[in-house]
Amino acid sequence: MSLFCPAYPKPHPEKASKLGMFWHARRSWMDALFERSYTMQMGEVHLPGVDLYMLNDIKEVKRVMQSEAQLFPKSHLLHESLEPLLGESIFTTNGEQWQRQRTMMNPAFEQARLNVAFPRMLGAAQSMLERLDTVDEQQAYDIEVEMTHVTADIIFRTIFSQPMQGPDAHRIFAAFARYQSLAPKLMLPALFGTRWLTMPWHRWQSNKAAREIRGLLHAMIKPRYEAHLEGKSGENEDILAAFMQAKDPQSGKPFSEEELVNQVAMLFLAGHETSASALTWASYLLAKSPEIQQRAYEQVIAVFGDAEPRQADMKSLALVWNIFRETLRLFPPVGFFARENVQSCPMRGKQLGAGSTVVVAPWLLQRHRKWWKNPDAFDPDRFDRGDDKDAIKHAYMPFSMGPRVCLGAAFALQEAVLILACILRRYELLPVDEHVPEPVGRLTIRSANGVRIKLRKRAAA
Ligand code: HEM
Repeated sequence: MSLFCPAYPKPHPEKASKLGMFWHARRSWMDALFERSYTMQMGEVHLPGVDLYMLNDIKEVKRVMQSEAQLFPKSHLLHESLEPLLGESIFTTNGEQWQRQRTMMNPAFEQARLNVAFPRMLGAAQSMLERLDTVDEQQAYDIEVEMTHVTADIIFRTIFSQPMQGPDAHRIFAAFARYQSLAPKLMLPALFGTRWLTMPWHRWQSNKAAREIRGLLHAMIKPRYEAHLEGKSGENEDILAAFMQAKDPQSGKPFSEEELVNQVAMLFLAGHETSASALTWASYLLAKSPEIQQRAYEQVIAVFGDAEPRQADMKSLALVWNIFRETLRLFPPVGFFARENVQSCPMRGKQLGAGSTVVVAPWLLQRHRKWWKNPDAFDPDRFDRGDDKDAIKHAYMPFSMGPRVCLGAAFALQEAVLILACILRRYELLPVDEHVPEPVGRLTIRSANGVRIKLRKRAAA
C-alpha cells in the first residue's frame, strides 16, 4: 500500500540570516525552517531582546518540560499576547497561581465528567451531520468550517449545558474567529522582539474582539454564578458547575466571577481551536488515503452498525484512534511550546542566559529524521507495529508532557474519535485533485488556503 505524504513548507537548504529569517516567517514561523531544523539537536537564533533556543534533544526536552519544569515556566510572551482575552487563566499562568488553578480545575475533567459529556458530544455530532447533509456532493467543501463549528458547539454544550445557538452564541463564535486570525500578527513580532512592527490597528481589533467575547461570556456566567451564591445551582452537571464548586485547597475560597470568565474564555479557545485544527487535517488525510479510509469505515460499521454510538464501544475503534493519533503527529495543533529559563543554565555545551526563550516544537520532534521511520508519511498503523515504539514513547507529545500536559486530552480524544466515526459512517471523503492545503502556524496549525474535500453520502446512510 502506498502511503500519502501531505505537503508542508519546503525547508530552506541553509539557515537564513536574521533578516532573512524574519522575512521568511512573515506568513508563518514554519516558513522559516531549514533542512537541519529536522535533524539537529539544538538550534539558536539571537534577535533584538530575544535569545531563542530550539530544542530537539530528547534528554533536554524532558528536563525542560518535566524534571526541571519549575525552572522553565511558560514564556511571558504567551501571557502578554493572550492576556486581553484570557486574563490570568490556567493556560498562561505559572508557579503557585497555576498550581492552585490546576488543582481546582482537575475535577471537571475526571472520567465521570467525560461520561456526562458523551451524550452532549453526540448531540453536537448529530447536528453536524444535519449541516453536512446540506453540502453539495459535487462541490469542493472547506471542511475546516464545519470542524470549527462542531468543536465549538461541543465545548459550548459541555461548559453551559446548551447548544451553540442564538445570536449571542454566534457572536462569540464570530469574535473568536476574528481573534484567531489576528493572533499571529501580534504573537510573532513579540517572539521575534519586534513589537514595534505590530500594527496598532491589529492590536485594537484584537482587543475589541477579546472584550466582546469576554462581555458575552460574562453575561452567560453571571446569572449562574449569582444563583450558585444563593444556593440555587440547579441540576447542571457541566464544566461551569464544576468550576463554581471548586475550592482553593489552602484558603477554601472558590473562583471569583472574573476568574470564572478567564477560565471559561480559555477553555472555549483551547477546547475548540485545537480539536478543530486536528479534525480538519484528519479529514484531509483520510480523503487522500482511500484504503485506510475504507478499513476505518468497515471498523465503524462493525462496531456501531447503524445504531446510536455508545461510549462503551469507543475503545473498539482502534484504527480510528490511530488515525487521529497519527494526524496529531503530522499536524500537532500546538506546533511549539515556548518556555523561559528563570536562571542561567548550561545546555548542550552552551550557557543559556537567564530569560532566554527555549522552544520545544512537536512539529519538528514528530517529524525528526533521527526518530521516525518514513516521518512524512501518513501511516496510522505505525502505532500498532513495533518499529516506531521508541519514537512514540519519547518524541511524540501533541498534548505536551510533564505538569503542563493538556488538561483536556481525554476529552479531546473522545470527541475526535466520535466525530470521525460519525463522518466515516455517513460519507465517503474524496480529495479535490488540484487542491493542496498549505500548513501555516497560526494560533494552531491551519491551512493558508483552506482544506477542501468532497463528501459523498454512502448508500447505507
Ligand atoms: C486535539 C486537541 C488538543 C490538543 C492537541 C491540545 C494540546 C494542548 C497542549 C500541547 C497543551 C500545553 C501547551 C504547553 O505546554 O505550552 C494544552 C494545554 C491545555 N489544554 Fe489542550 N489540547 C487539545 C484539546 C483540549 C481540550 C478539548 C481542552 C478542554 C476541554 C483542553 C484544555 C487544555 C487546558 C486547560 C490546558 C492548560 C493546562 C495547564 O497549563 O495546566 N485542550 N493542550
